[in-house]
This record gives sequence, structure tokens and C-alpha cells, in this order.
Amino acid sequence: MKKKRLITSALPYINGVKHLGNLVGSLLPADIFARFSRQQGHEVLYICGTDEHGAPAELGALEEELSTEAYCTKYHDIQKKIYDDFGISFDFFGRSSSKEHHELTQKFFLRIEENGFIYEDTIKQFYSNTDLRFLPDRYIEGICPKCSYKEARGDQCDSCGALLDPEDLLEARSSLSGSTDIEIRETKHLFLDLARLEKRLTQWLSTHPEWPATVKGISSKWIKEGIKSRCITRDLAWGVRVPKAGYENKVFYVWFDAPLGYISFTKQWAKNVSCKDAWKEWWQSDQVEYFQYMAKDNVPFHAVFWPAMLMATNEKWQMVDFIKGVNWLVYDGGKFSTSKKRGVFTDKALELYPPDYWRYSLFAMMPENADANFSFEGFAQAINKDLADGIGNYTSRICKLIDKHFEDSTLPEGFVLDEQLGSHIAKNVKNFAQYMEHNEFRKANTSLREMWTIGNEYVSRSTPWTVVKEDKSKGALILKNCIFLLRVFTEAMQSITPNIVAQLRKVHHQEEVSLDNSLDTAWLEGKVTVTPLEEMLVKKISDEEVESLKAMFSGH
Ligand code: 2FM
Ligand code: ZN
Repeated sequence: MKKKRLITSALPYINGVKHLGNLVGSLLPADIFARFSRQQGHEVLYICGTDEHGAPAELGALEEELSTEAYCTKYHDIQKKIYDDFGISFDFFGRSSSKEHHELTQKFFLRIEENGFIYEDTIKQFYSNTDLRFLPDRYIEGICPKCSYKEARGDQCDSCGALLDPEDLLEARSSLSGSTDIEIRETKHLFLDLARLEKRLTQWLSTHPEWPATVKGISSKWIKEGIKSRCITRDLAWGVRVPKAGYENKVFYVWFDAPLGYISFTKQWAKNVSCKDAWKEWWQSDQVEYFQYMAKDNVPFHAVFWPAMLMATNEKWQMVDFIKGVNWLVYDGGKFSTSKKRGVFTDKALELYPPDYWRYSLFAMMPENADANFSFEGFAQAINKDLADGIGNYTSRICKLIDKHFEDSTLPEGFVLDEQLGSHIAKNVKNFAQYMEHNEFRKANTSLREMWTIGNEYVSRSTPWTVVKEDKSKGALILKNCIFLLRVFTEAMQSITPNIVAQLRKVHHQEEVSLDNSLDTAWLEGKVTVTPLEEMLVKKISDEEVESLKAMFSGH
């Protein structure tokens, strides 16, 4: 029996519209794998939602002069609409500000505390005399002690990836006001005793030798550097309240509550599908494989911190089986920047081109084994050379020939698969499926492009436009082989470009099947009618367009 597949993508922070790097780092690969898994016959549950706590939400609201609640609702709706338009096929897209989420977080905390994994300590925290508030870690900036990067944040250095404590920073300042009039004050906080879980964590991590090198590297580094207990409370007003006397003015650290969203959203999904306990079949069963998608800065939290929280409950919880940690997508050699309007944001992207153009190009340039660069030249190349030449021209050429030479665009009965073509394409389909199964999207893309090449070469080699004039039934047979390929392409593209696939299905009228079944030829025995494309499948992007896009997004 096939195992069920639980799929989650890192919960995007609520503050504002996300850029293409966020899309390629978690949502897109998760969606592609979810679609692929459904197609291959797995029962899939794909869960995500907005991460609405932490200082960024409070600060975003201040900036827009909205209540934090109204701000979160606004951006939840905006983000949800954008992801729907990109075709991200969530089964549930929740909110960490929901009542269910708060309840679950508090319940988890009480359980972990009961098991003795929480302790109290007095810590020193920065207080800003200019901003008149405690400054959460990420609102302190300064020089990274490890790599000397000047804009390191109090929780993490974006340049070298080191996890930091704010007092590690050199020349610390408030990132709100830039003020250096900040002082350390004492305040009580709660800690998760990670050190007591180190053995169990190390043992559990060793059961996953197959994880991608990036993920293994990051998690073992985190453990080797000495696993530190982490503070799980914050001096903020917005967040999940801490159910403990003396903590009335504090909330949980956003990384304590956010991953629990995967569970609390599943609970809400279960309520929606009317079987309240259905969530247990995903989180407390032996029949599930769990896949997580995230950018590399999230890996320590998913490979170490959250598993530790689950272990500390001493209850049975679904642990992650596979982590896809994606590297950075950079924009034209530099960082995407919201404030400098540098790079492409998801809302603007959709105004410019159909979602599948972005889905395909990002799939093709996925930063899998190293950081990758987004450039409009690369984007245009993926659309023009791969999509337009590879599948667009192929489809319109075939449709035109059938339309021109066969009444009602109908090919006669009878079919024989070209043997060489059949074995060649079957090999590619097998490779493609294997790469997809292992989340090796770049390699899968190479196989996909090879399939298109096989198709275009077959057409050029067998010259159906000449043959059909001399021997109509021979011509029909070649064209049926072409239609066979078109269906294989459709199925291979199913998880990557769902809108283009919908167009292709209107041409050959075949419903979705698994990749193996796409190689079936029985349906070609009878008459086959095709419906020519109503419009061009993919429009090419000109050099002039590329130049104007570059100017538009350069941030100058
Ligand atoms: O880095 C981020 O965008 C975080 N909001 C991811 C949170 S994932 C979590 F929920 F586990
Ligand atoms: Zn650094």
C-alpha cells in the first residue's frame, strides 16, 4: 500500500507580499511535489498558512497605521489570493493567529513543562531608551562576530547563516530608530532545555543519511557547535500568551509557536472535512511519510528545534522524513530587497506574465545544490527556448497538420507505436519520475527538456507533412505517434505547469493519469480527434521586453 504523504511548506511571514525567492524556496517545490504525488496515486495532505506572530507583524501594522489584527487579516487575504493565482494547491492555508493555534501552542507548552523540559532563567535583554521598549532579537542590528557582515540581525546573520544572540553583535543598534542608546536590562524568561534532548536528537538525525547535503550539513553543524537551550518567550504584546503566572506580559517566541501551525492547521482542515479526528491519521499514524519544504535559513528550526519540541512531549508525533532545504535565489547577482524595490515580487510577477511562466522558469532555476541567480535573460530563455520552442511549437505544428489534412481533425483507426521512439521516451519518463520522486527538480527538468527534444526530432525526422501527401494512412500513423507523445508531455508537466496542461488536455481530451499510465497506447487504437489550440500556448519574450523588465526592477 502506498503511504500517505503529508507535505508542508514553511509558513510565510505575514509582513507584506513575498518575492520570488520565497516562492521558489518553499511554496513552489512543495506544490510541485504535492501535485506529483497526487498524480502518482498517493493520498496527499498539503498544509501551509501565514506566520502571524513576532515583531515584524507588530511593526508592519504600526507602519500602515492598522491594528495588528487588521494588518494580519489584510496580508493573509492578499497572500492567499496570490498563492491561489499561482496555483499552489494547499489543502488548507491557515493562520497562526487563530484560536485553535493559540490553544494548541499552550497545550504543547504545558505538556513539555510537565515533562520537565522547561526552565526559568533571568536574562539580559536590550532595552531601547529611544524606542521605549524591549527590542526583540531581530530588531537589533550590528556586526556579525563570525564573518563581520555589517547588517547582521540579533537572531541570525544573513550573510554566513550563523544563529546569534543579540549580545554577540558588535556595535549593536536598534533597527527601529538606529539608536545606539540601548541598554541591557534583566528580565525573566522560559527556556526549552535542548541539551537534555541532544542524545535523542543526534540519534534521530542519524536515521536520515539520505537527506540532501545542505540539510545534513546545516543540522549537524548546529548540533556540533553545542546545542544551546533556547529562550521561548518574548516581551511583546502580540503573540500566543504564556499560560504561567508571572508571564502575563509575555508571549511565546515565534519559532516556538509557528511550526505547531502545521498541526493546528491540520486540525482545522479536519474540522472542515467534517471528521474532527481526521488530523490524527496524519500526525499520529504509521502510514504517513512527511515532507517539509523551506529555505535554508529555516533548516535548523525544522531539523533540530521543532523535532526537539515534539520529542519533549513524550507523545507520538509524526516526525519529518524528508527536508528539502532550498538555497537562495538572488536577483541579478544581489539580494532581493523590499525596501529598495529590488527584484520581483509575487504580486507584480502575476501582473506581468501567466503563473505557469514563473512556475516553469523557477522550477528550471531552482537553487537546489547552490544559490541560483534570477535574471530576466534567464527567465526569457526558459520561456522562449524551453516552453515556446519545446512544447508550444511542437503542439501547434501537430495540430495544424492534423487540421489541414484530416476532416474534423480526426485521425483514423489503428495504431502502431514507433519502437525506437517508444523505448526512448519510456526511458525518459522513468528517469523523470525517479528524479521527481527524489525531489531532484533540476535533473527532472533536464529529463523533461529531453522529452521535448525527442518529440521535435521525431517530427523533423519523419516529415509527416510530406508523407501525408503521398500516403495518408502512413502520415496519420506518424501524427498519432506525435499525439501519443503529446499526452506523455502533458502528464510529465502536470505538476509543474497546470494551466498549460489544462490547454493541452483540451487538445487531446485525455484525463490525468500517473506517469506510467501515460505510456499506454490503447486509446490510440480507435479514431482520435484533436481540438486545435485556440491561441498560442506560450508567447515568446522579446529582447526589448527583457531590457524594459530589467530597468523596471533594478531598484534604481
Ligand atoms: O522564515 C520564515 O519565513 C518563517 N516564517 C518560517 C516559519 S516555518 C514554521 F512555521 F515552522
Ligand atoms: Zn555572519
